[in-house]
Amino acid sequence: MALEGLLAPRKTLPPSLFYDEEGCRLFYRITELPEYYLTRTERVLLADIGPTVAAEVGPGAVLVEYGASHEEKAGFLLASPGAFQNYIPIDVAAPELVRLQDRMARSHPAVVIQPVVANFMRPMALPELPNGAAVLGFFPGSTIGNLDPDAARDFLIRARVTLGSEARFLLGADLWKAPEVLIPAYDDAAGVTAAFNRNLLVRLNREAGADFDPMAFRHEATWNDAESRIEMHLVSLRNQTVRFGGATIGFTEGESIHTENSYKHTPERLLSIARAAGWVPRRQWTDPAGRFGHFLLGQD
Ligand code: AVJ
Repeated sequence: MALEGLLAPRKTLPPSLFYDEEGCRLFYRITELPEYYLTRTERVLLADIGPTVAAEVGPGAVLVEYGASHEEKAGFLLASPGAFQNYIPIDVAAPELVRLQDRMARSHPAVVIQPVVANFMRPMALPELPNGAAVLGFFPGSTIGNLDPDAARDFLIRARVTLGSEARFLLGADLWKAPEVLIPAYDDAAGVTAAFNRNLLVRLNREAGADFDPMAFRHEATWNDAESRIEMHLVSLRNQTVRFGGATIGFTEGESIHTENSYKHTPERLLSIARAAGWVPRRQWTDPAGRFGHFLLGQD
């Protein structure tokens, strides 16, 4: 998967590769940066709306979280006693899920935890759900921003198939705003996001026997206005070749590896994507500054 993107005329690496152990650690540090307003804004919003959402969906419901390396956000929903009896965190990072299950056995002893190690971009099966229980899909953190609009729609269609025709879905996404606010969030002064980006190359060296010099690539975050997205790139500082998976990959000075998109939609655009996937918008909330939104979706 990684090699294919590096052999393409415009080089790419998939953002799901960010999250090895070191990548998870670096991402956690990103969420605490002063420039990265997303996590703390969403946290306050979820604390505010959690009881309302829980009351609409529960009691005894099943919470299915996509991209759940930590239970913190789900905690705002699980805090309503009796609202959820099962929690199914889905993530690519198996070690994170083991730690999550350990913590939750102590913090939420009444909730049945059923972790699923999976890349949610592929079809997957859920463990057996209690008969007749309401189901809430949960996709917080603006992870949907990694997907282009077609892929976001396809993801939301797959989620509908996985979760069933009665399910509802709570989607949290960072919203469109001025690039002056967005760019620093993806190019912080302390260089944590740069380290997070370069860690992709460190990981390919360690796990795939590549020989990248990570410091021979510069971190870049740009606003693509036409596509309404932040792009992250690793830009080659010189002409160089890298050995990887039996191939030799050439880079010219200034050539980039496109490592991530973070789409920033308006609420209207996001809901039109959800509608195209067969979901029906029910309720929506944003923080007072309108930076981050949560959208409760249902079905007919
Ligand atoms: C986890 C995908 C929501 O796009 O803001 C943070 C990942 N990349 N800084 C985001 C990320 C660079 C993050 N998501």
